[in-house]
Amino acid sequence: MVREIVVYPDKRLKQVSREVETFDETLHTLLDDMYDTMRAKNGVGLAAIQIGIDLRALIINIPLENIPEGEDEQPKENTLEMINPVIIEKDGSTKFQEGCLSVPGIYEEVERAKHVKVEYYDRFGEKHLIEDDDFLAIAMQHEMDHLDGKVFIEKLSFMKRKKFEKEWKKRKKVS
Ligand code: CO
Repeated sequence: MVREIVVYPDKRLKQVSREVETFDETLHTLLDDMYDTMRAKNGVGLAAIQIGIDLRALIINIPLENIPEGEDEQPKENTLEMINPVIIEKDGSTKFQEGCLSVPGIYEEVERAKHVKVEYYDRFGEKHLIEDDDFLAIAMQHEMDHLDGKVFIEKLSFMKRKKFEKEWKKRKKVS
């Protein structure tokens, strides 16, 4: 089921999400709904708080490249579901132009660690370890920030942030 996206500057985006304690049907429905919502909005990742649920759960689905035309580039089985993720190692730095379903239409360059190693649980409560130094590393850091109440525009420089806030206000008046 597609749920409503929480849009900046909604206060819920500042909330620090709670750890998931039960890996039950409710969690599975939440993750399924997150996938439906992400697809409906053409996103590559989503944290639970972005649909108003303050649990440490996120999903990432990086579109496949070079696939036959007409085929799904973000099949559900390719979705990385991360529950209670924790960065246990990070190094290097890289810049990438990021966007966010909670700040639609805004794309800004953000600096993050190049390489991260993350420990997390899947929907069944099994523990996993994943590491990456490419786009997935950036996506994981972006989504994990949401679990701690942070949105990517908060990482912008003072001037860029001011410019963004001005533009955002203007845009809201129009819509
Ligand atoms: Co986001």
